[in-house]
Amino acid sequence: MKLSVFRSGRRQVLASAIGLPLLAQTQGKPLVFPGKDSMLVHNDFPEDLEAPPGSLDSFLTPVERFFVRQHLPRPRVDEGQWRLAVRGMVSRPSALTLDELSKLAQHKLPATLECAGNGRGYFHPRVPGLQWTKGAVSTAEWAGPRLADILERAGLDAKATYASFDGADVGAGQTPDFVRSIPMRKCLHPDTILALTMNGKPIPPIHGFPARLIVPGWDGASWVKWVTSITAVPEADKGFFFATAYKYPKRPVAPGGAAKPEEMETIEAMPVKSVFTRPGAGTPASPAKFRLERTTLSGLAWSGENRIVRVEVSADGGSRWLDATLGKEDYRYAWRLWHHEWTPPGAGYYTLCVRATDSAGRTQPIEAAWNPSGYLWNSIERIGALVEA
Ligand code: MTE
Repeated sequence: MKLSVFRSGRRQVLASAIGLPLLAQTQGKPLVFPGKDSMLVHNDFPEDLEAPPGSLDSFLTPVERFFVRQHLPRPRVDEGQWRLAVRGMVSRPSALTLDELSKLAQHKLPATLECAGNGRGYFHPRVPGLQWTKGAVSTAEWAGPRLADILERAGLDAKATYASFDGADVGAGQTPDFVRSIPMRKCLHPDTILALTMNGKPIPPIHGFPARLIVPGWDGASWVKWVTSITAVPEADKGFFFATAYKYPKRPVAPGGAAKPEEMETIEAMPVKSVFTRPGAGTPASPAKFRLERTTLSGLAWSGENRIVRVEVSADGGSRWLDATLGKEDYRYAWRLWHHEWTPPGAGYYTLCVRATDSAGRTQPIEAAWNPSGYLWNSIERIGALVEA
């Protein structure tokens, strides 16, 4: 197995706090999910896996290269025993089986899932947390019933303002249970679904089997995996993973500074962003190498709830920008492939840059705003390129 462990080893989750089924699942078996063996491993237990630079080169990401992020040991879900509880401010609380959910009208859409911390490793000064580079993002085609249908079927009370989602994973050691609240306006949006399939197949266990929330355009933390309960509530959850984590300063903070809790707000839709996949990597100290000939530069661009309308590439550090060609797949919540034919004018060193603009007129900043938790990195990417004659 080709595993690149480039940070930490096993995360210390107290074994005593882990349920027996989990121990049975992990003891004596490879900890990394089968098929994910080319991923960069930030943690192997619970798995936090990043797609290697340059490997995200297709519109739909094969499961083998789809990034993984989980705060707690992955639960083992028995399909026959599993039920989805729909409760709280509803007139007909229910416990739905997978079969019942499969019989509701299914809605299908491609959507890009990005961890709010993707790119954290690029912030200066350094911010604690997983040092993701650019591979904590992936795209799949998801299908399942609309959340609105599930809630309306249960007799949703119009006064409920949020729904809270809990998954089958449970708090362990110092890490509390993972519960997230989603405002009702997003829950009832026709594109918000409880996915039962990913790229046309049942969702793999590591990505939330049998049902995970798809909150198109919003940060990955909202996309709860292994969902076991949906509770309609009058206010958002007060637990750590909603009340404290995944918050962003309402106003810019000086790099290295702090923000009080009341100066922070919950991250919702993700910003506009683009990356190179060819070349996938290259820094000033370790530039990507090119021959002196016409070459194809390519990559991805996405923007939360907006479409990508323009991608520009520069080969001179951002003095002169040229339009890249956009890929044919053009969906509201999914990334767009782009490519650009580049003929270097001569041998030497170049700084390649890419920037995207979305349908709301937003474009990328030169430098993403530093923030205490290192979220929403979307600086214009700069790649060193050495052209040899
Ligand atoms: N759902 C549960 N139940 N537990 C988790 O730890 N992690 C969230 C989200 N859903 C998480 C979860 C975070 S932070 C991210 S970025 C995405 O799942 C990652 O989804 P993936 O592992 O399928 O890529």
